[in-house]
Formats: sequence, C-alpha cells, structure tokens
Amino acid sequence: MAITFRQGVAADAAACGRICFEAFAQIADAHNFPREFPALEVSVGVLSMMLTHPGYYVVVAERDGEIIGSNALDERSLIAGIGPISISPTVQDCGVGRELMRRVLERAHSRGFPGVRLVQAAYHNRSLALYAKLGFEPREPLSCVQGSALNTTIAGYAVRPAVEGDLEACNQLGFRVHGHTRAGDLRDAVAHGTATVVERDGRVTGYASVIAFYGHAVGETNDDLQALIAAAPAFGGPGFLLPTRNGNLLRWCLGRGLRVVQAMTLMTIGLYNEPRGAYLPSVSY
Ligand SMILES: CC(C)(COP(=O)(O)OP(=O)(O)OC[C@H]1O[C@@H](n2cnc3c(N)ncnc32)[C@H](O)[C@@H]1OP(=O)(O)O)[C@@H](O)C(=O)NCCC(=O)NCCS
Repeated sequence: MAITFRQGVAADAAACGRICFEAFAQIADAHNFPREFPALEVSVGVLSMMLTHPGYYVVVAERDGEIIGSNALDERSLIAGIGPISISPTVQDCGVGRELMRRVLERAHSRGFPGVRLVQAAYHNRSLALYAKLGFEPREPLSCVQGSALNTTIAGYAVRPAVEGDLEACNQLGFRVHGHTRAGDLRDAVAHGTATVVERDGRVTGYASVIAFYGHAVGETNDDLQALIAAAPAFGGPGFLLPTRNGNLLRWCLGRGLRVVQAMTLMTIGLYNEPRGAYLPSVSY
C-alpha cells in the first residue's frame, strides 16, 4: 500500500469521524462491550471539534487520496494527550496505526511536551501491545463507571459551577496532586459551563472539568471527589474513569448503585509523578 500522511483539516471531519465510528464499533461489538461512540454524529462531532480547535493536532493517513485513519494530539495543557486513534477496519494490523502514533509522538517531542499520555481499553490486546512497544508504561488500571445520577449532597462540601476566578485555585490544586496543571482543558470546560468546584471551609478543595468520560477531576481527598460525583447531573459518554486502586472511592460508587462498564489502562511516556491526592482521569489522561 502507498500510504501518505498529512495534517488534518476541518473538511476531513466526516471521513475521519466515519472511520472512527466504524473502527471503535467493530472492536467493541467483537468483545460485547458498549461502543465508545454510540452514533456516527458523535464521532464526527468529536473529530470536527479537534480539527478546528487550535489546541489539537490531528494527523490523517491516506491511500490513493482516500482517508484510511487518523490520530489526534491534545496540546492544550503541559502534558499532551493522544486519541482517538482509528484505522479503517479493512486496513488494520498493517502498520498504519504505528505510523500515526509515531507521528504524534514526534510532534509532541518537537513541541517540547515533557510527557505524553493516553488511555486504552484493557480488552484491546492490539492497542495495548502497540503502545507498549512504542514505549508507553502502563501506569494505572482504571474502571469506567456508569449509572444514574446520584442527586445527593455531602454535608460540609458545597459544589457549585466553576468560574474564571476559580482557575488559579484549581490549577494550584492540580499541580499539588499531579505535579502539573491541566490549565488548557480546564479553561475550555469553564467556558463551556461544565466545570464545577467543591468548597470546604470556604476554600476550593476539588474541581471537575466535568464528571464524564471526556472530563477529569482532582480533589484533596476522596470526600471532595465524592461531593463532585454526587452533584453531577449525569455521567457523559460510556462513564467516568476511576483509578481502580482507589478501592475506597470505587466501593463508595458501587455502594450507590453505580456499575463498572469496562476496565481501561492509563499509559504514559515521559514525565509522570505518582498522584498525591484523589483524581479521576479523562479518556486522554
Ligand atoms: C488500535 C489501532 C489504532 C492499531 O492500528 P493498526 O494499524 O491496526 O496497528 P499496527 O499494524 O500499526 O500495529 C499493531 C502492532 O501490534 C502488534 N500486535 C497486534 N496484536 C497483538 C497481540 N495480541 N500481542 C502482541 N502484539 C500484537 C502487531 O504485531 C503490531 O506490532 P508491530 O508494529 O511491531 O508490527 C487499530 O487497530 C484500530 O483502529 N482499532 C480500533 C479503534 C481503537 O481501538 N483505537 C485505539 C483505542 S485505545
């Protein structure tokens, strides 16, 4: 196959979104797991956002002028996040995914990102093997958790929408827990009106960009995260991602009727500090 690669543009959204939908649907159906993108318009919407947002770099693969796959790099914060990567089911396992990964890693390196991360579905042996071969370290087993909104509050923990004035406190908290901020993602989430903060004794002790597959959260303690989860109106996408080794938080969720949908794995290259606090990663990291 003569395959070429180039940076994606807005007009690629339909083709990339269709391949993304088909590739993710095929692997999920084969293992009887829920689809990551429940409908074509969802994957087209995600790719369209990434192809037009200046904080994302998208690379596409073409054969005879026809798109056969794409990959994206989230460049909005200090650590870069990869995904979604998808190859047309007819040309998988032929090296296209490896080359699309190599290209975003090269981009991250040339832009000086100290670390690159991703989250993969634990049931997908090929993606696990590919990322491990490329140098990614498995860092954290994750549980994707879904269920009805808890519609409850936790005494002493006040949750409210985040505003621009909260950014500094949230970023300081993120830095204390992770050793880096996610300032770019958080700024977008505040602008979109999805971010929340939890306050204890009048100070910010946790925040969530949104409690969802695509969102992340940080708290000084599990109680702070519980307050944010308890106040969430819904858990968007397949579910929110919870570090499985945080058994107390997992048990708290399970005790309130939430269910584990699937296991996933956080993988990293470069800068990584063992988190010093409670957190929920997003599907990019
Ligand atoms: C995952 C995906 C992007 C990989 O792309 P691809 O073009 O199929 O993969 P490649 O051929 O480039 O690389 C696969 C590598 O894994 C290896 N591999 C595959 N299955 C393996 C297994 N079970 N054990 C060990 N190695 C395995 C292959 O030998 C190859 O290694 P190599 O590059 O050293 O030769 C693609 O299959 C896809 O789109 N899947 C559906 C969507 C998806 O799951 N995306 C990833 C979400 S995390």
